[in-house]
Amino acid sequence: MSSTPVTDRQAKTARRPPSKILVDGGDPGETKHIRGLLGFVDGQTTNPTLIAKNPEVARMVKAGQRMSESQEAAEYRKIVQEISPLVGDAGVSIEVFADLNTPAKEMLRQGREMNSWIPNAYIKYPCTAEGLKAAQASVAEGIRVNITLCFSQRQAAAVYAATRGARQPVYVSPFVGRLDDAGQNGMDLIANIKRMFASGDGHVLVLAASIRSLAHLLCSFHYGAELVTVPAKVLEDWSQKGMPLPDASYSYPSAGKAIAWEELDLSRPWESFDIRHELTTKGIQKFVADYRSTLEQAS
Ligand code: E4P
Repeated sequence: MSSTPVTDRQAKTARRPPSKILVDGGDPGETKHIRGLLGFVDGQTTNPTLIAKNPEVARMVKAGQRMSESQEAAEYRKIVQEISPLVGDAGVSIEVFADLNTPAKEMLRQGREMNSWIPNAYIKYPCTAEGLKAAQASVAEGIRVNITLCFSQRQAAAVYAATRGARQPVYVSPFVGRLDDAGQNGMDLIANIKRMFASGDGHVLVLAASIRSLAHLLCSFHYGAELVTVPAKVLEDWSQKGMPLPDASYSYPSAGKAIAWEELDLSRPWESFDIRHELTTKGIQKFVADYRSTLEQAS
């Protein structure tokens, strides 16, 4: 992978998109490559699936080597410590290992530990009741959080209510591509959450996630997502096309079923929102499976 000279980088930096750009991946080499291409990377998101795909981890697993839980944590720490200095102020999101039965207390224990790995950590908790309890306790301690696997406006409202009073920005990550996969127009969720948060206090930022295409990226800019996390191949495509931005006549070529707007009162207690979602459950199960695929004893 080759890097673009600094002069080019400076020129490109002058043309920043309206959303912060994060690399969605688990390979520091890839982050360096994208920084060379774009001239900047604002942040990074990782998750158990992406860490299992890290070249070093994947090589070990392919060779039949497996790690203990503490070796896996050390590997994860090494990866995020390499990425940390490569990115700007949107930080590096690190995901706790949680299955459907993991209590908030255990997530919080992991979150505290992961938060000590790097100075610019955002701890990712799943958008479940236990995840939100852990997030609530984390923000009270000054730990930055990113609530992941968000698939509904109600979940985003609950994130808002659970983290009210946070002294640092809270991220909520709606998963656009996985909603598209389920036949819906995932970008509608971004638009609906942005509209809902317009009447809020601004403490939760929308991080568009599960981005699969240039159209997703441009529409995230168009809808004003504060951040967007993007796989390297989509960023390469964007760079190759000259880093275009949507103009006033932009319209999103959607094919999925529209996601209806809901009128929700952000002042309600977070527990009063129905945050159950099948795709959140499936997402947790997939992360658990990918995490366990790297461990010496599948449990
Ligand atoms: C974001 O934080 C997630 O890591 C990511 O965007 C998931 O994307 P996927 O649906 O392509 O797995």
